[in-house]
Amino acid sequence: MIRAVPRGTGHYLPVRVVENAEFEKTLDTSDEWIRSRSGIERRHFAHEGEKTSDLAIAAARAALLDAGLEGSEIDAIVLATATPDQTFPSTAVRVQDAIGMRGGFAFDIQAVCAGFVFALAQADAMIRTGLARRVMVIGAETFSRILDFTDRTTCVLFGDGAGALILEAAEGEGSAEDRGILATDLHSDGRYSDLLYVDGGPSSTGTAGAVRMSGQEVFKHAVIKLAQTGAAALKKAGLDTTGIDWLVPHQANLRIMTMTAQKLGVPMERVVVTVQDHGNTSAASIPLALSVANAEGRLRKGDVILVEAIGGGLAWGAAVMRW
Ligand code: UT7
Repeated sequence: MIRAVPRGTGHYLPVRVVENAEFEKTLDTSDEWIRSRSGIERRHFAHEGEKTSDLAIAAARAALLDAGLEGSEIDAIVLATATPDQTFPSTAVRVQDAIGMRGGFAFDIQAVCAGFVFALAQADAMIRTGLARRVMVIGAETFSRILDFTDRTTCVLFGDGAGALILEAAEGEGSAEDRGILATDLHSDGRYSDLLYVDGGPSSTGTAGAVRMSGQEVFKHAVIKLAQTGAAALKKAGLDTTGIDWLVPHQANLRIMTMTAQKLGVPMERVVVTVQDHGNTSAASIPLALSVANAEGRLRKGDVILVEAIGGGLAWGAAVMRW
């Protein structure tokens, strides 16, 4: 059986770091509120003119370096973003060009904060069916471009960044002992599309719009649905929570991560947490966290990793992989 096995990771964060205290100058908010409600202490914002593709290209190059590969050795790029450079072409083709990939194919996926998990599931399916052998999965966002900086309930929560994971085909036994992606679990429910959305777009307002969120409502859905999808993915993989070495959740809110870990029975020292430094980077948050943990030498070959995310749609899902 063919498995999609991790080969390398990379990430990029814009140089500009914005501490919580900066928002105190213009908004009725405080470092204490942001920290205690979300766990966020700072985030990175892209500089003027810096695009999502710039972040994605830097992450892609870092992943190639980590994997010891050239861009020409990648068959496909699946890039998750809700903040593309342009309405079209895809941001993925910008990366394809920049890394010197002259064959294969590249496209974007839009599932907002769950985008990376959705992209991972597509890459896994493509590899297992033989459509591609080496796939670069990227999550990249410049959410700072779609924030309303007068809305304290949203603008303090998000940040910019990019992360990349290279997967490649390898023969497995078809058991939970295999390396690679062992199971994926995806969901969406459009009845909840008004809980988290952008109030613009090409065919509605003709503008990019800004993020609007019913935070408390999303919070309640997140805690329930993340634990459900995490457990479902583990069951499909033939594992239970005792088998998890690392939980790498979407980095939206430390309280959501703690509650989900509790529900899944995973101790916090087994949870990769980067939200304090990155804020919520939407589709970039999981590959960023994976790449940071990998660079720190925390992820060992053979470790079982559960990733899970939820966001606008609502769209949510999880994946289990053996590193
Ligand atoms: O990535 C996609 C998925 N997104 C998420 O998972 C986000 C889910 N939601 C959350 O993380 C949390 O709901 C938030 C961090 C957004 C908010 O935390 P909360 O504990 O749910 O706060 P709240 O919305 O219930 O607001 C509590 C109070 C309100 O004031 P009143 O009505 O109690 O007087 C807000 O107006 O805090 C107020 N508030 C603020 N105060 C200071 C809201 N934003 C701020 C702020 N600074 N930035």
